Amino acid sequence: MFEGIELDKIDISANPPAEEPVRQYYFMAKCRRWVMDFEYKNGRLPKACVTTFGCQMNARDSEKLVGILRQVGYEVTEEENADFVIFNTCTVRDNANQRVYGRLGELKSYKKRNPAMKIALCGCMMQEPAVIEKLCASYRFVDLIFGTHNIFKFAELLCRSFEGQGMIVDIWEDTDQIVEELPVERKYPFKSGINIMFGCNNFCSYCIVPYVRGRERSREPEDILREIRRLAADGVVEIMLLGQNVNSYGKNLKEPMSFAGLLREVEKIEGVERIRFMTSHPKDLSDELIQVMKESRKICRHLHLPLQSGSTRILERMNRRYTKEQYVALAEKIRREIPDIAITTDIIVGFPGETMEDVEETIDVIRRVKYDNAFTFIYSKRTGTPAAAMEDQVPEKQVKEGFERVLKVVQDTARAQVARYQGQTAEVLVEEINAQDEGLLTGRMSNNTLVHFPGPPELIGRIVLVALDKCQGFYYMGRMVL
Ligand code: SAH
Ligand code: SF4
Ligand code: F3S
Repeated sequence: MFEGIELDKIDISANPPAEEPVRQYYFMAKCRRWVMDFEYKNGRLPKACVTTFGCQMNARDSEKLVGILRQVGYEVTEEENADFVIFNTCTVRDNANQRVYGRLGELKSYKKRNPAMKIALCGCMMQEPAVIEKLCASYRFVDLIFGTHNIFKFAELLCRSFEGQGMIVDIWEDTDQIVEELPVERKYPFKSGINIMFGCNNFCSYCIVPYVRGRERSREPEDILREIRRLAADGVVEIMLLGQNVNSYGKNLKEPMSFAGLLREVEKIEGVERIRFMTSHPKDLSDELIQVMKESRKICRHLHLPLQSGSTRILERMNRRYTKEQYVALAEKIRREIPDIAITTDIIVGFPGETMEDVEETIDVIRRVKYDNAFTFIYSKRTGTPAAAMEDQVPEKQVKEGFERVLKVVQDTARAQVARYQGQTAEVLVEEINAQDEGLLTGRMSNNTLVHFPGPPELIGRIVLVALDKCQGFYYMGRMVL
């Protein structure tokens, strides 16, 4: 939160200030007036619901939206029949888009019953012109549409939507702005994501992210460290540094700094107990990073290192800029230097031109690297990406077969890897009450493995020592040791 600003003291009869973020606080003050009016007329606060469809970066953006809504006075709920519903969308695979359209249908029926309801859409899907066309043609009941580059203007857009009638669409093609110091409300009090960079310059040939998130921009280290210090003072013990390719952090700063260098600084912050980061592109992973991880007491024993394919031929067509051998050598080096590390990955099956031999290459890498967990995706054609124009799209039947084969090996390997710690004790950050059994708590080991064990809810947010009694597939049942 921008220090020293009190919404009630802002003169909203004056013209809005031009500079950010002060301008947004002005609009928050204006929106708050509207919320007070609503409360006066209805005898209750208006309710808002923000639904996240995408990755951790998308989730972090949602926390920013919730922060602003709270400042403005909304009661925030998880129920989608609220007075104001915002879908923060993802478009990385087509099924993400389909889910949004499906849920929009449900919102339409809510809105029929409550015509005063407001619906907003934002996030990556909105950066696609074809999506906007479709929404403007067939989804007129949506009130507000904005994109990834102008999300910092949420308060201003909300205000415009209160003042005007009809659908507001505001999409920017790109931006070089990074607007800091807006309110944020964390989903968990004890852990938080922190953006260290935005956008992506890699243009993997299947991927739409560079088109919807724009060019790579790193935040200044001082801004990142200040944010983390504040979070630590506010009780956050685990932080996750977020970027599409954290290993290229800092290259374009006025005073360049490496990602490993940034980690060294973060490590010094008192109160931070655990440091995670996402995502690491294999092509940019430095020896310096391995060294920093090895020496660190706080950096978690987990590395997410997307493979995508184990076939050098396919990797080249994907524009990943590493070969199978380079990847395996890197993974082996990491395992050698940090033996207790968990390596997880993303795999795509069915990329154009992929044969069953290519799938076997992927399986070979899975067996050699022994992933602790892997997310396997069926290739999804994204309009505008180079791969979408490739002619040899793989028949569905072959994709299914390849996918099943990969999934089986991934699961077998992951099961064996997770079981490595049976009978040992581990530090576990307690995250929540178990969803199935209220008597159990659920937490994570440093290597990201889930552990369930009996304990009181007061332990949520604390790091405790747990005996890993029984491995059950991908998680442990344990018992606290004092
Ligand atoms: N920046 C991250 C990935 C972000 S997207 C990285 O490079 O690792 C998360 C994952 O979605 C990717 O790793 C990839 O496996 C998957 N993905 C991206 N585009 C896809 C597509 N068109 N079809 C299927 N999976 C895709
Ligand atoms: Fe997409 Fe590749 Fe960038 Fe990851 S590195 S976001 S897969 S283009
Ligand atoms: Fe999806 Fe955008 Fe993240 S496309 S995966 S929400 S960067």
